[in-house]
Amino acid sequence: MREARTVPDFASWRARALELLSAQAPPENVLWVEEASEGEERLLPGLAASEPAPDSVTQSEDPRPRVPARFVALAKKVSVHRDAARWSILYCVLWRLTHGERGLLSRELDPDLRRLELMSRQIDRDVHKMHAFVRFRKVIDDEGERFVAWYRPDHRILRVAAPFFRDRFASMRWSILTPDESAHWDGAALRFDGGLPRSAAPREDEMEGLWRAYYASIFNPARVNQRAQRAEMPLRFWNEMPETRAIPQLLAAASDRVGGMIRDQQAAPSAAPFLPPESSRDVVSLEAAARSCRGCDLWEPATQTVFGRGRASARLVLVGEQPGDEEDRRGEPFVGPAGKVLDRALTQAGIPREEIYVTNAVKHFKYIERGVRRIHNTPRQIEILACRPWLEAELQAIQPEVVVCLGASAAKALLSPTFTMRASRGRFFDSPSGPRKMATWHPSAVLRAGDQAASDALFADLVADLKTAAAAASESAAPSRPLPGLGERGG
Ligand code: URA
Repeated sequence: MREARTVPDFASWRARALELLSAQAPPENVLWVEEASEGEERLLPGLAASEPAPDSVTQSEDPRPRVPARFVALAKKVSVHRDAARWSILYCVLWRLTHGERGLLSRELDPDLRRLELMSRQIDRDVHKMHAFVRFRKVIDDEGERFVAWYRPDHRILRVAAPFFRDRFASMRWSILTPDESAHWDGAALRFDGGLPRSAAPREDEMEGLWRAYYASIFNPARVNQRAQRAEMPLRFWNEMPETRAIPQLLAAASDRVGGMIRDQQAAPSAAPFLPPESSRDVVSLEAAARSCRGCDLWEPATQTVFGRGRASARLVLVGEQPGDEEDRRGEPFVGPAGKVLDRALTQAGIPREEIYVTNAVKHFKYIERGVRRIHNTPRQIEILACRPWLEAELQAIQPEVVVCLGASAAKALLSPTFTMRASRGRFFDSPSGPRKMATWHPSAVLRAGDQAASDALFADLVADLKTAAAAASESAAPSRPLPGLGERGG
């Protein structure tokens, strides 16, 4: 048995593997031993200047056999996984590729390949998670403002994930610290250093945690008493956070949820990193960006993102819960059975659907498989919160006069986590700056009502509430804008 020592990076493994290959050492005679890397200076996958062209594990003048580029890419990817077995599996696959099994990579059921592919998917997930979960905190150093985040990824992915932050936050100076290594961006170059413990990062302030948790979940500027809130909120936070006006009221409204939300916050998934830059947030570019949202786990089993549809300058916006089975397949909101009820209700309320904008609080279909059927599965609060940046951006882009939440899930997302239909259906939640908001029955409640009479009653409520909302949307529009119907704003 031969021992092969490698530090945890692709270049080191490749050097050992090539030695073993030229010594004709079969995988079953090799014991791979992973050693701790030597801290800051180690070469990491994909970035080391001395690496060969990506389509080979060998230099081009090297007489040894070449391997498919896909294997090299896979090997680089899984080299950052923490499973110590990756080195021996990689060597085994390399050996087989160069010993008569050139077509091995197309054998999807091969156990070695399956294991590598699984690791590869775990790396992708970890990178997506890191993009979504990293939270920067502002500090002042010798050169001015720097944003610092501490994060513990499952795998050694910092160098894979860092370019995303470089591109997204190109004009900020930032550092991301992880236990394995740290990345630093100074506006021009990305530099990597040794790992750092959590204690090296600026400490999270409790009020900042409260703010983020509350703002992310229940921001509702409707009932704001600024003087009272200023009295409760330390000024240093007030100045840094534009949304602070809402905090104390929101805290009061949901104080029993504070502890849990703060605990959740560090790990809270979010669509925020996937939004386009603020300067280009019209509904078209939002929809395009949302197609590749990985802000929470719901994207994976879903067919596609189902973004809002309708008039980009609508006065009235309807917000449902999440797309259903048919919406998921067709990529449009409210086109399945609930959509047909909605269409009927809109017609009776005299609201042309093409004049309004219809969207959902959650943009991916969440379901449970039962045989061939996919059954709607109510999104969790954390998923609604993760998706909220899309909804906020849609409303910001459209600037409607009135928003109607269809069903309690949407109402909890937009109005208050404690919202109940019984207490507040059809009532306006007014805001001095944002749109007026109200909630009504979800069209699928009409479909699920126990009997015809109950169904008719819910449908009548739905129509009446939609009429009220449409009238309010017309009334509150600026007098300079003509108001026949709902659709005079162009777009
Ligand atoms: N239910 C919803 O809440 N939204 C849809 O788009 C379809 C069904």
